[in-house]
Amino acid sequence: NKYQIAVIPGDGIGKEVMEATISVLDELDVDFDYIYGIAGDECNEEHGTPLPQETIDIVRDSDACLFGAAGETAADVIVKIRQEMKMFANLRPVKSYPNTKSLFENVDFMIVRENTEGLYIADQEEETEDGAIAKRVITREAEERIIDYAFQYAKDNNRTKVTAVHKANVLKKTDGLFKEIFYEVSEKYPDIDTEDFYVDATAMYLVTQPQEFQVVVTTNLFGDILSDEGAGLVGGLGLIPSANIGADGALFEPVHGSAPDIAGQQKANPIAMMLSAIMMLRYLGENDAADKFDAAILKVLSEGKTLTGDLGGSATTMEVAQAVKNAL
Ligand code: NAI
Ligand code: MG
Repeated sequence: NKYQIAVIPGDGIGKEVMEATISVLDELDVDFDYIYGIAGDECNEEHGTPLPQETIDIVRDSDACLFGAAGETAADVIVKIRQEMKMFANLRPVKSYPNTKSLFENVDFMIVRENTEGLYIADQEEETEDGAIAKRVITREAEERIIDYAFQYAKDNNRTKVTAVHKANVLKKTDGLFKEIFYEVSEKYPDIDTEDFYVDATAMYLVTQPQEFQVVVTTNLFGDILSDEGAGLVGGLGLIPSANIGADGALFEPVHGSAPDIAGQQKANPIAMMLSAIMMLRYLGENDAADKFDAAILKVLSEGKTLTGDLGGSATTMEVAQAVKNAL
């Protein structure tokens, strides 16, 4: 059971949180081959491109990719990899952990965002005589694919309900189709409950009853906004992981950037990167290892003794990694 993992630490704290995370992965009962790739600002300075073809090839040839963070070139790097690998799903878990800035306890749901169409189509904005127009593209193929992914995710992770989020009362054609497809696809999953909400109501429910959600599936723009709302609900950039999933590959990364203000000082919280690695383990079907890793992080946070500065502690990045390894 050996996996090839592309590892792209990138810039700044990306390198530090990656080293910490790999040191924990090495303690688990899963066999990995790490193939390191370069990308980001430093790579750009040294090689004249933030994302060499060689790095793209490493990602393409791997079973999954761990990405730390890039600096100013982040958008070029990440957007290019997403396009090259046709990563159609963006996954953001919203989960509360103790001793964090989480506003609620017992929150645990997944936002599944469509990542290729909707309002975010490159070069599709147009200037008009008195303003500008953007097109919102909803295709049956892309929406069926993301909705099916959400139901399959629910099934694989013992979730019992999927919530569709849309604005079909106003956007009758585009979101009307999205909603129609949602209920069509749901027929393949008779054991999973369904519900659908308007996006504005959802923005409210997320802060009034976040514990009610299990899996949320939605179109590109709504998913972008709601996933940041979800991040705010459970606190701190140092804790929020994400995944980009495609037919040709998957990439797991913390939501935060290279944090130049604390880079090189062992102050970065590695937990967002570690939770990204846990998402990778689940993607690979290594659920036992993922559960074990997750329980170790929960233990370290619950004890509250080894926390980085962002969580009010004074531990270093590698001290947190060591505490997680001890908790395994
Ligand atoms: P940032 O996420 O790097 O930092 C924002 C603030 O949060 C800073 O005060 C930082 O110290 C803190 N922070 C972030 N992650 C932390 C962690 N793990 N532990 C403790 N504190 C943490 O975002 P910012 O400052 O807007 O951007 C800095 C650079 O990162 C820019 O060059 C930007 O382009 C890049 N960036 C890259 C991303 C990526 O690679 N996916 C995403 C966001 C920004
Ligand atoms: Mg966003």
